[in-house]
Amino acid sequence: MDDILNDHDLEDLECDLDVAGAKAGRVARRRTAIHDIEPGAEWNDVEQAILTRRSIRKFKARQVPAHMIRRILEMGRFAPSQGNCQPWSFIVVRDRTIIAQMEQYCVGVCKTMTANIDYTNYPPGSAERAAIMENTQKLNRENPNSFHPVPMTAIKSIANGRFAVFHRAPTVILLLLDKRGVGVPEVDIGVVGTNIVLAAQSLGLGTCWVGFSKLLSSNTALVEKLGVAPPFEIAEAVCVGYPIGNPTQQTISRQTHQIVWWEDGNMQILY
Ligand SMILES: Cc1cc2nc3c(=O)[nH]c(=O)nc-3n(C[C@H](O)[C@H](O)[C@H](O)COP(=O)(O)O)c2cc1C
Repeated sequence: MDDILNDHDLEDLECDLDVAGAKAGRVARRRTAIHDIEPGAEWNDVEQAILTRRSIRKFKARQVPAHMIRRILEMGRFAPSQGNCQPWSFIVVRDRTIIAQMEQYCVGVCKTMTANIDYTNYPPGSAERAAIMENTQKLNRENPNSFHPVPMTAIKSIANGRFAVFHRAPTVILLLLDKRGVGVPEVDIGVVGTNIVLAAQSLGLGTCWVGFSKLLSSNTALVEKLGVAPPFEIAEAVCVGYPIGNPTQQTISRQTHQIVWWEDGNMQILY
C-alpha cells in the first residue's frame, strides 16, 4: 500500500472526502504490517463486510447523505484494474423523477420482451403461441445464455409490475464502462462495483447490483440526458439506500466449489 499511496494521494483522499477522522490513507498505512492469524480466528472487519452483505431490494425512503455516496465512490476509485486503465466512470442519480423515468423505460422494454418471447401468454394450439415459440427457439439457439430461467422470470415479473428494476432505491449509481479499457474491462467493472458495495456495507448501507440497467442503453434520449457519452456505456448499476429489515438474516445458498490445490509436487482436491 505504501508503494501505491503517496502523500499526494493521501492529501487528495482527505480533501475529497472531507470527512472528519477519515484519514483513510494513514489508517491504511498503519494496517499494512504483515501478521499471521491463527486458524479459526474471528473474521476481521473486511471479512465481516463480505459475509454480511446481501442484495437489498427494499429501501427506506430516506436519502443517503451525499458525503457517504462520495465516500463509497472513493473506494471504487482505488479498485485495481487491468493495466491500471481504470475503465470506468460513475453517474449518481438521486433525482426521483429521473429514477422513475429509468424504471418506466426498463419496464416497457421487459413488457416488449415478454410479449415477443413468452409463448405461455397465449393459449395452447393458437397461431400466436406457435409463432412466438418458433421465434423464441430461434433466439435461444442464437443466444443460449440469454434465456437463463432466473433473468427470464425476473423480466416477466418486471413486466407484470411484481419486481422493481431499481428497487425504489433513493440513490442509483450507474457504472459506466470505458470501451477503451485493455483486456476485459467488464471484469474491472465487477471489481470497482465490488469495492463500492463492500464499502457501502461497512457503512451500514444496503446495495443491489442491477444488471437490468443495461436495458437503458436503447433509450438514446435518456442516456444522453443522464450524461452517458462514448466511449462510455452503461455496464451495470448499483442501488444504494438504507435497508428495510435485517438483510443478514436472509439465507442465500452458496455452492462449495472444489479447489484444486498444488503444493510440493502434489495435487489435492479440497472443498
Ligand atoms: C453483476 C450483477 C448483476 C446483478 N443484477 C441484478 C438485477 O438486475 N436485479 C437484482 O435484483 N439483483 C441483481 N443482482 C444480485 C444477485 O441476484 C445476487 O447477488 C445473488 O442472487 C446473490 O445474492 P446476495 O447478493 O444477496 O448474496 C446482480 C448481481 C450481480 C453481481
